[in-house]
Amino acid sequence: MAKARETWESHWGMIAAMIGTAIGLGNIWRFPYLCGKYGGASFLIPYIILLLGVAIFAMMCEWVLGRHTKRDPLGAFEKIKFPFGRDIGAWGVIGPFFLYSYYIVITSWVIFFVFASLEGLYFGKDTEAYFALFLGSKWIFLVHFLAVCLTSGILALGVRKGIERACKIMIPALFVLLIIVAIRSVTLPGAWEGIEFYMRPRWAGLLDPETWIAALGQVFFTLSLGMGAMLIYGSYMKDEWGIPQNALAVTLGNTSASILAGFAIFPAAFALGFGNVIGKAESIGLTFFVLPKVFEAMPGGHLFGGMFFILLAFGAISSAISIQEPAIAWLKDEVGWPRKKSALITGAILWVMGFPFILNGFVKGGIGAKLALLSKMDTIIGQLAIPVFGILAIIAVGYFMGNRGFDEMNKNARVKLSHTPIRFWIRAVVPIFVGLLFILSLIKILQSNGVMPVILPVSQGAGFTSIGITPITIVMMALIAILFWGGFIYFTARVLIVERDKQRRVARGLHHSD
Ligand code: PHE
Repeated sequence: MAKARETWESHWGMIAAMIGTAIGLGNIWRFPYLCGKYGGASFLIPYIILLLGVAIFAMMCEWVLGRHTKRDPLGAFEKIKFPFGRDIGAWGVIGPFFLYSYYIVITSWVIFFVFASLEGLYFGKDTEAYFALFLGSKWIFLVHFLAVCLTSGILALGVRKGIERACKIMIPALFVLLIIVAIRSVTLPGAWEGIEFYMRPRWAGLLDPETWIAALGQVFFTLSLGMGAMLIYGSYMKDEWGIPQNALAVTLGNTSASILAGFAIFPAAFALGFGNVIGKAESIGLTFFVLPKVFEAMPGGHLFGGMFFILLAFGAISSAISIQEPAIAWLKDEVGWPRKKSALITGAILWVMGFPFILNGFVKGGIGAKLALLSKMDTIIGQLAIPVFGILAIIAVGYFMGNRGFDEMNKNARVKLSHTPIRFWIRAVVPIFVGLLFILSLIKILQSNGVMPVILPVSQGAGFTSIGITPITIVMMALIAILFWGGFIYFTARVLIVERDKQRRVARGLHHSD
């Protein structure tokens, strides 16, 4: 007889796991880099619209698929009778390999910067040149090996939950440090230009479909969608946890971290002389040469920088674990390998898969040349593979699960989503909108390769000139603050309500494990 499926032991355990997978390099490395590349606020606006209009629904759909079927991605798509369900679901096992292959390389940079900060190796140096030097040094092999061993070891020993529980402390600590870095960054002389870049939308970027496609990829990436991770995590969810409110909590918490990272990086980038790098190929390493400069400008920068990178390493490792997990779950469940063997073999394959990105670092040239391969892979995975699979989850729930899907979504939800509008949104609005974005971006690719005549405007890059304080900059800052504080108040209120209910239950003599 099939044994009952494992679930998160408590609501807090689930939140910790969700934070663990969602918060990571996507917030502190990928978001600022793309935001810089596509023109600051011109990227931020599509990002927020797509986050609340598309990604949050995709997350609910992955949870619905996971919790309803209680299966891995292959089984889930098969069980709801999605055409070629197993083959499509297989992406949820194969795709993460490609994501992990370069994600772990970036994780290893974070690990190196823990030591570099504590030892003060980059202090007083040109941090951009220092980072380029590191990419072509022997250290990268060591830290990369260490990072792969860490995730594989954690998965082999089955101590994943311990790491996730630790994230409940480490991630809030990362938030606190991020706030401090952001305050230092915005108070640097000359920081205003960066704030303006980040907060003042420019039409050229806003109307460019490429910006929207990049933002679409990022909203899926940051919420760990389109890779089977959230689907599997959803399959461990208990029925008593309402899907909509938890999806909102995870989305708001995760976004707050990204927005903060932008405030930590852009003002400092402009103030410290990296303004000209933004939007260029080098900006893929922005986090790793701007933040060190900020640490240098802080009292106790060594320790502070070291702590910051340790906390970020936690975020990155706990995300990388969730990327490696689907393959292990599949090998364990369907091939019948023991956990340790699965972790060891996947670890070995993933270690080798990282080499092309590492070896690229040994070419002559700047950061842009050294990270060319990684950047290409990230575009393919983040802007194509992840959104396509993420949208399939929406189509699966909208078209193949029908009412069962919407009932699952609303099960025990505090605020229920009414069937007709949600069905219309999931079945029509989201697929049509996203489909249109894909068509527009395909046209752009074809026209840039000369296959098609030029009918859409060619991207202008970040192209930014400061014009000083404008009302729109102020309005944007106010909106972001509301989103921030709204999210923050929501979280605090939730915690307080749960606590109060718990105390009442205890007072009534009803003990509850949650
Ligand atoms: N969301 C993670 C991050 O932002 C990355 C990730 C993507 C993890 C997809 C799992 C699946 O760092």
